Amino acid sequence: MTAPAAPAPVTTLSAVLLAYSDRAETELARFLPADTQAPIELHRAMRYAVLGGGKRLRPLLVYATGRAFGAALSELDAAAAAVEIIHAYSLVHDDLPAMDDDDLRRGRPTCHIAFGEAMAILAGDALQALAFERLAADPALRVDAAVRVEMLRVLGAACGSHGMAGGQALDLAAVGKRLDAAELERMHAHKTGALIRASIRLGALAAGCRDEGELAALERYGRDIGLAFQIRDDILDIEGDSGVIGKTAGKDAANDKPTYPAIHGVAESRRLLAELTGDAIAAVGPLGARATELVEIARFIADRRS
Ligand code: IPE
Ligand code: IPE
Ligand code: MG
Ligand code: MG
Ligand code: MG
Repeated sequence: MTAPAAPAPVTTLSAVLLAYSDRAETELARFLPADTQAPIELHRAMRYAVLGGGKRLRPLLVYATGRAFGAALSELDAAAAAVEIIHAYSLVHDDLPAMDDDDLRRGRPTCHIAFGEAMAILAGDALQALAFERLAADPALRVDAAVRVEMLRVLGAACGSHGMAGGQALDLAAVGKRLDAAELERMHAHKTGALIRASIRLGALAAGCRDEGELAALERYGRDIGLAFQIRDDILDIEGDSGVIGKTAGKDAANDKPTYPAIHGVAESRRLLAELTGDAIAAVGPLGARATELVEIARFIADRRS
């Protein structure tokens, strides 16, 4: 008997997920201040950093999770936009000369190359504030005030010193050092995993999901895809083409960054990525058909080319 064929790689998104990504684009354009408003240069830099590129993976997670628990898309827009705005701000600061010193992002000059360092720092600051402001005030998010406060807390924890910013600090402190496997996982879980886990949690909160078992399943799924996402990012830095990934390939090695391939080798990184993807899919198995989109996202994260 011949072995079953391996599933085809998921390198493009289905129509449903593409529609979520288009929706996120529209909502982001609506949430951002117009670049005709003063201070014009700052608003131009903010819109440049957020619009016209990116996979919108974090909004996809908000929409897919919220829909799985019965929320309307309009009730999920604020959280979807908020996580993507935080993500975009983190990229602007990540690319600065004081951090990764990158010139190319989403196939275009990075924000500080286009607008100067000072404006890029301010754009990041203002984007972070905007994400909280919009999540606090959006009238289409129809949850109790206590749930809205909890959503703000979840987002704050995910981007603060115990979340993304903390992970970025671990990343910078680790340059030129050899981390062990646990330290590397901890760094990735913070710098990238925290906001991914928060995207899922926010979708669940906006949809009113209170089932402890289902929330725990989502948490396991988020932990696994969050780590998988950064492992894939590390592999793409080695194997990807700058024209496809939209950023300069090979920068991790040039910056002496601790990455999964650097610590474990490419083959073992691939094995871990496949294992985490399988674990993530298994974690949401009990949700049945409601998890179809989450399963597709997990497979896309493992196979993506950019
Ligand atoms: C890149 O994130 C930075 C990491 C956290 C690894 P994405 O790969 O999601 O970047 P965009 O938003 O699609 O450009
Ligand atoms: C960035 O990780 C993580 C955050 C921005 C929080 P990387 O430095 O690996 O991301 P890229 O490769 O520049 O997109
Ligand atoms: Mg970095
Ligand atoms: Mg970087
Ligand atoms: Mg990277």
